[in-house]
Amino acid sequence: MNYREYIASRLESVTGLSREEIEKVIEIPPEPKMGDMAFPCFTLAKTLKKAPPLIANELMPEFSNDDKFEKVQAAGPYLNFFFNRAEFEKDVLTRVKESKGSFDKSEEGKGKTVLVEYSSPNIAKPFHIGHLFSTAIGNSLARIYEYLGYDVKRLNHLGDWGTQFGKLISAYKRWGDKEVIEKDPINELLKIYVKFHEEAEKNPELNDEAREYFKLLENNDPETTGLWQYFRDVSLKEFKRVYDMLGVSFDSYAGESFYGDKMQEIVDILSEKHLLTESDGAKVVMLNNLNMPPCIILKSDGATIYATRDIAAALYRKRTYDFYKNIYVVGTPQALHFRQIFEVMKRAGWDWADNCVHVGFGLVKFPDKKLSTRHGDVVFLEDVLNESIQKTREKIEQSNPDIEDKEEVAKKIGIGAILYTFLKNNREKDIVFSWDSMLDFEGESAPYVQYSYARGRSILRRCNTDFSNPDFSKTTSDEEYELIKQINAFGNAVSDAADKNEPFYITRYVTNLAKCFNKFYNTRPILKGDVDSETQKARLAIVDAATQVIKSALYLLGIETVESM
Ligand code: ARG
Repeated sequence: MNYREYIASRLESVTGLSREEIEKVIEIPPEPKMGDMAFPCFTLAKTLKKAPPLIANELMPEFSNDDKFEKVQAAGPYLNFFFNRAEFEKDVLTRVKESKGSFDKSEEGKGKTVLVEYSSPNIAKPFHIGHLFSTAIGNSLARIYEYLGYDVKRLNHLGDWGTQFGKLISAYKRWGDKEVIEKDPINELLKIYVKFHEEAEKNPELNDEAREYFKLLENNDPETTGLWQYFRDVSLKEFKRVYDMLGVSFDSYAGESFYGDKMQEIVDILSEKHLLTESDGAKVVMLNNLNMPPCIILKSDGATIYATRDIAAALYRKRTYDFYKNIYVVGTPQALHFRQIFEVMKRAGWDWADNCVHVGFGLVKFPDKKLSTRHGDVVFLEDVLNESIQKTREKIEQSNPDIEDKEEVAKKIGIGAILYTFLKNNREKDIVFSWDSMLDFEGESAPYVQYSYARGRSILRRCNTDFSNPDFSKTTSDEEYELIKQINAFGNAVSDAADKNEPFYITRYVTNLAKCFNKFYNTRPILKGDVDSETQKARLAIVDAATQVIKSALYLLGIETVESM
């Protein structure tokens, strides 16, 4: 049952307000002792020409015989509703059970396509920690939108084009050794790329050579294109290894190179609309009225750039997917770039530019210098993931050495701990990486939530009782009631997360759910102690629902559960 709707329907006839008006003003009181929902009577003061407390008092008797509520109380200007706990629990738990693992899944997005672009690393360069941040957020948002019924497409806008590939090809021709590269491709390619820059300092002619190679590449010269393809293939192979570890996938890897032949159209459209201005030989769109630097569309040598490729990509996406929303999960340092291209798109007359959203995020800091310095200064992502798994393995070795599938468990917890770290706070906030808090089984961490789940599942495994149709009149303690209320709040967390493109609403939600679960678990006997069979049935049903919803919430964060740990 939807209590908000119910209260509104009851108040409609006696107040003369519409249901919608009432539903809009109903509040959740800040403290449980003030009830579960409250109707503020200020709204009626004007029409009834009475003081709000008086109105609250007069409305109170309307609910005296309503068994949906334990009591309905006037408190100052508010009418406070205390739900009938047993009824409420039954209602919530029945809905969880009937949802079969998809509690509060909705169809609000039916027929609408949401594009989530995330990760987007650069080929022949390390997949760095910022790309992991993007991957964690994007993967979660994709799952959240899917849960709301949207048709989601996951896009990886690979950085696989640009003048730097001319440099890399030149470097490869000079110093590349296929056999060496094969063994550790990204690292080796990075090495020769760095060497190119060092050598070019001494011998600037190298830069001309690189420009020539890039030109050849742009003109589809078979040899250079073959090399570029090789760099792309080996890079993607490495990236996919990381994606597999994370359980992440994409519908498209159309990167910057894909738009090579789609940019002339953009230049044409912009020039037809008289949006292009000459500036030092380059063609730009002036944005000074918005206090932004010009958006460069064509460089003085005629080469197109990052922004142009992005504009071409947006138009291609609109035509291909007819998106309802086009989300870019890219670090906040690129916020200006997105403001610029969205503005250019708007000026081109594309009203759908308003449905393009940049979802930014902060920086990742490593206070722990020991972390993954195997390759010098760059933090290699795979090393971070492996280190997390290794540390988890050590912990399990101490706490639960006989556990089955130790490797699988260590992997799910180690990876979960990292994902949680990225999704724990407001995404704009910088992150400080700390193994201690990430792997703290008692703090705000993935292992804490995963552990709560495993505890619940272990109870369910150990009992053979049929707990269908329980009687909830004996499970109305504050601990039980708070847990059920938290379970019930799942749908709100999911819609808040989608509204703001902020997975952290779900992280916060599931952490609180685990806390409520542990409070319940620690204070209410289930299998042993002072518990009769009817109460036990009800408590088992509560455990069952709580674990189901923890699992769904973690899924939306990209985090897996384990049955024991
Ligand atoms: N490859 C870029 C980088 O590593 C991120 C791409 C972001 N996406 C986009 N459509 N511009 O910085």
